Amino acid sequence: MKTWVVTGGAGFIGSNFVQRHRMLKSARIINLDKLSYAGNIGNINNLFEDPDHIFIHGDINDRILVHDILTKYHPDAVIHFAAETHVDRSIIGPEAFITTNIAGTFSLLDEVRNYWNNLDPGLKDTFRFHHISTDEVYGSLGPDDAPFTEFSRYEPNSPYSASKASGDHLVRSYFTTYGLPVLITNCSNNYGPFQFPEKLIPLMILNALDGKVLPVYGDGKNIRDWLYVMDHVNAIYLVLEQGNVGETYNIGGSCQKTNIEVVQTICEILDQLFPNSHNKPHASLITFVKDRPGHDRRYAIDSSKIKHKLGWKPAETFETGMEKTILWYIENTKWIQSVKSGAYRDWIDINYEKR
Ligand code: NAD
Ligand code: TYD
Repeated sequence: MKTWVVTGGAGFIGSNFVQRHRMLKSARIINLDKLSYAGNIGNINNLFEDPDHIFIHGDINDRILVHDILTKYHPDAVIHFAAETHVDRSIIGPEAFITTNIAGTFSLLDEVRNYWNNLDPGLKDTFRFHHISTDEVYGSLGPDDAPFTEFSRYEPNSPYSASKASGDHLVRSYFTTYGLPVLITNCSNNYGPFQFPEKLIPLMILNALDGKVLPVYGDGKNIRDWLYVMDHVNAIYLVLEQGNVGETYNIGGSCQKTNIEVVQTICEILDQLFPNSHNKPHASLITFVKDRPGHDRRYAIDSSKIKHKLGWKPAETFETGMEKTILWYIENTKWIQSVKSGAYRDWIDINYEKR
C-alpha cells in the first residue's frame, strides 16, 4: 500500500479527501494538522481506530517534525491542503496567512526536497508533491471575460489569495529549479459536509435554521463558480495519479451563481423541508450588509484541461449538491454544536456586529 502525507487533513476539503481515501483504502495516510480554529478533530473521529490513518497534531512550519515524519513514514506523496483559508479573516489579520500559506509552504517544500533528494531513483521518479490551491490567485473577472485557464495571469487581490499565489510560485519554482515532481491544482469555491460555518453556504444554512439574519455583502451580485467537495476530491486523486509533473490543472464546477441566487436557493430548499417553520419564507431573513473591501466580483474556471486530458467531470449538479449539503447540516447537530465554540462566536461578533 502507498503512503501519503496529507497536511490539513482535519479541515473541510482535507478531511473529505482523507475519509474518501481511507474508505477506498487507496493509501496509508499520515495526517498532519495544526487544528487551527478551522481544523476539527470531529471531522476524522471515526478514523482513530484505523491503523492506516495516523493523525499528527503539528504545524507545517515545524521543520524538525516534518523531517521526522518524512523519514519515519517514507511517503510516496505529500498532498498539501493546510492553509489559512478565509478571505474575511485575511483582511482583519493577514499575518497568519503569510506564516502558514507562504512560510509554512516553503518549510514543507524544503523538507520534502531534502527527503526526495535521498530517495532511490525509482521512488524519486514516482514521488509527488501535490499543492492544493485556489482560483482566487487569478483575481477578479469582468462580466464578459472568459473563465480562468491555466494560462491566466496571477492577479490576487486579498491577503488570502496573494498568500496562496506566493505558495503556488514557490511550488512551481521547486520543479523548475530542483526538479521536485510537483502538481498544482487551482479549484473554484467548494461546498459540502464539514465546511466551517464562516464561509457563505454553511453560514447561511445555519443562520436560516436558527432564524438569524442572512448577511449578504454589497449588492449580492458577486459571482462564484461552485463545486461539490467530493467532485474536487475526485479531481485531486486523478491529477495525483495521472497528472503531468510541473503542470497546473484548473478545477471548477462550471456553475456560476450570484451570491443572492445561492442564498435564495438555500431558503427555497429550507421552505420545502420545513413547511411549518415560523421562519418561512426563509428569504425574509436576507439582509444586505456593508461590502467586503477589495471584494472580487466574479470567479469562473475553465476546466477543459482536466476534462480532456484526464477525463474528469463533476458528478453533482448544484441542485443535488446543495440538497445533500443542507441535509448534512440538518442531521449533524453534534458536529455543529462542537464548531460553534467560543472562537466561532468571537468571529461572528468581529465580522458582523459592526458591519
Ligand atoms: P480549512 O480552513 O477548512 O482547513 C484548513 C486546515 O489546515 C485546517 O484543518 C487547519 O487546522 C489546517 N492548518 C492551518 N494551518 C496549519 C499549519 N500551519 N500547519 C498544519 N495545519 C494547518 O480549508 P479548506 O477549505 O479545507 O481548504 C483546504 C485547501 O484547499 C486550502 O489550501 C485552500 O486554499 C484550498 N482551496 C479551498 C477552496 C474552498 O472553497 N474551501 C477552494 C479552492 C482551494
Ligand atoms: P466565502 O465563502 O467567504 O468564499 P470566497 O470569498 O473565498 O469566495 O464567500 C463567498 C461569497 O459570499 C463572497 O462573494 C463573499 C460572500 N459572502 C457574503 O455575502 N456574506 C457572508 O457572510 C460571507 C461569509 C460571504
